Amino acid sequence: NKGHYEHYMQKEIHEQPESLTTTMRGRLSRGGSSKLKTVLLGGLKDHLKTIRRSRRIVFIGCGTSYNAALASRPILEELTGIPVTMEIASDLLDRQGPIYREDTAVFVSQSGETADTLLALQYALDNGALCVGITNTVGSAIARNTHCGVHINAGAEIGVASTKAYTSQIVVMAMLALAIGGDTISNQARREAIIDGLLDLPNKVREVLKQDQEMKDLAKLLMSEQSLLVFGRGFNYATALEGALKVKEVALTHSEGILAGEMKHGPLALVDENLPIIVLATRDACFSKQQSVIQQLHARKGRLIVMCSKGDAALVSTGESCRVIEVPLVEDCLQPVINIIPLQLLAYHLTVLKGLNVDQPRNLAKSVTTQ
Ligand code: UD1
Ligand code: F6R
Repeated sequence: NKGHYEHYMQKEIHEQPESLTTTMRGRLSRGGSSKLKTVLLGGLKDHLKTIRRSRRIVFIGCGTSYNAALASRPILEELTGIPVTMEIASDLLDRQGPIYREDTAVFVSQSGETADTLLALQYALDNGALCVGITNTVGSAIARNTHCGVHINAGAEIGVASTKAYTSQIVVMAMLALAIGGDTISNQARREAIIDGLLDLPNKVREVLKQDQEMKDLAKLLMSEQSLLVFGRGFNYATALEGALKVKEVALTHSEGILAGEMKHGPLALVDENLPIIVLATRDACFSKQQSVIQQLHARKGRLIVMCSKGDAALVSTGESCRVIEVPLVEDCLQPVINIIPLQLLAYHLTVLKGLNVDQPRNLAKSVTTQ
């Protein structure tokens, strides 16, 4: 049921304030008399000790689910101190990469039925790792076969392009980082800021969704482009990959997410006055580095569209021809949830303007159950 929306993708983008609220329901508390803010993931509580003792956390997934894990890696490393590595499920299987008993392998999958992720799960189980699922589908193969896990509770996702599941996955993995990470005096303020940020996130998502018309206008401008680059780094490298994935899979426009730190190692050669480039430059520890990336792209006459935090337009704009998207500022590790939304809207409007099928892009299936 699409309600008053024209497409499932549109509905699922716009219902993110509600899906995120459901994801967090019963799992976060502002703290009662003790004033302590806490996270409770029921599915993990008996396994946290084992996870904390593991030598490594390995994230395994495909497509958007992989990108969500990538967005969550920095906060997991920061709060737990455990090395976190990333595996695309098919690549792990192709290499028969090493997985050990001392590893915690985290399988991220909206459907819980993706063939490669499921086979990688079997492989990790055979190798003796503790296997944790982050799934949206209760009773799915990955939910059933992992030792433990967390349901993201985003509600059924119908559009082939994953949108609300992505943001709920990131929120669950931020909660996972809080749950695994020790509650030490030194990180207490940071933990509390993240919990407050999580509780306020649905409001901030509601705010950024108001840019729907602005993104539609941008889509009109980009409608006949052949290609689009998205530059990000740090917490928002994943946003660059995921934004580009949305644009390519539904709008059928070639698009590439680029790690901004790699710019000079190749991608800079593509920059000219024609190719549109989105630069993600919201406030975090990487902001000044992104300002310098903007300057260098501008020096090569790059056609820039910059995403920045509210009030920062003057700090990132390179002049008349530069388009700026201002988004609400949230805690750095949660910023990917905000920043992906204008890109989801852009991909959606590009697709509709081009007259393409947004809920069922050509050649794609919602759940990839064959290798
Ligand atoms: C559970 C109930 C929820 C109830 C809540 C009340 C279910 C599915 N969830 O939620 O309805 O409101 O208690 O306390 O009945 N699991 C995996 N792999 C996965 C995902 C989950 O093994 O990929 C396991 C978990 O370890 C757990 C169970 O499935 O044993 C349910 O997980 P989850 O729904 O996340 O647990 P709660 O949030 O506690
Ligand atoms: C992109 C998309 C796919 C899926 C991928 C994994 O919008 O939907 O890239 O993310 O096929 O699917 P799940 O998460 O079901 O394992």
